[in-house]
Amino acid sequence: MKKIGVLTSGGDAPGMNAAIRAVVRQGISLGMEVYGIRRGFEGLLDGDLEEMKFHSVGDVLQRGGTILRTARSKRFLEDEWIDHGARMLNTFGIEGIVVIGGEGSYRGGYELSQKGITVMGVPGTIDNDLGYTDFSIGFDTAVNTILGLISNIRDTSSSHERTTIIEVMGRHCGDLALYAGLSGGADVIMIPEIELDINEVCRKVLKGQRSGKAHSIIIKAEGVSMDTAELARLLEEMTAREARAVVPGYIQRGGSPTEYDRRLASMTGAKAVQLLYDDTPSRAIGVQEGQIISVDLGEAIKMTREFKKDIYDLTEVLA
Ligand code: F6P
Repeated sequence: MKKIGVLTSGGDAPGMNAAIRAVVRQGISLGMEVYGIRRGFEGLLDGDLEEMKFHSVGDVLQRGGTILRTARSKRFLEDEWIDHGARMLNTFGIEGIVVIGGEGSYRGGYELSQKGITVMGVPGTIDNDLGYTDFSIGFDTAVNTILGLISNIRDTSSSHERTTIIEVMGRHCGDLALYAGLSGGADVIMIPEIELDINEVCRKVLKGQRSGKAHSIIIKAEGVSMDTAELARLLEEMTAREARAVVPGYIQRGGSPTEYDRRLASMTGAKAVQLLYDDTPSRAIGVQEGQIISVDLGEAIKMTREFKKDIYDLTEVLA
């Protein structure tokens, strides 16, 4: 394969730039031409692509966001537009692309692979919701951002003897809440995989209060059905302690990627290009037990994420 493309799609994630850099530089080192496709599948449909050179990805390794921009393409959900995308790539003579993104982007990539384009998936999402890989690019940075917030919030929650609920991102996946809750010492972790009722949350908060804790920190994943402001209101009533709700939102998606995310991005990005160079059919690249792995793209999108019950149980013991 001589000409390849790279795009970022869906919600951005810290480390996407490091992955783009790896794709471009690995491609050039293997003698390939690498095209950057702007604004994800949207840009592909509009023919918004241009060749990237070694220097195009200079000074980006440490930057959050994505230099290629991103989009959630509604058009790319329709078969005729997917055909159009494949034709666009054919026009440029691009036989394979690297798609850096999460679940939705992988589904788009898989549809494109059914039209004769080789697609390599590189996991880029703070949600960590792809079933075939232990971690995705951006997750570690987002968890560390949330840990910083927990520290700040803990200070003021102690001073005022309050309960604070921090609602974190993750869509239907509770990993951000789970990992940040474990490492940030949350009193209660609320995730979609294990829905707690209000009485159970209240019991945990009161247990902490009775043991002498000056504050309670609840980490709640956005995918949990209970409304965060309503939860704060109910807890105030039921525990006789002031409660506040904090929703950091997009703060979790920005920032300079951690060492882990840069390494994961560099290694998975380079691996994706190597697979294209070797003419391997479409794959999803990831990490399992510390090793860079790849699985069939069609299989990858069918795999659901395994719930980390051992981590959840440990948080219960340590809280
Ligand atoms: O998928 C990443 C993510 O940040 C989710 O955690 C969140 O629910 C969603 O994207 C927000 O999407 P948007 O940027 O479209 O508002």
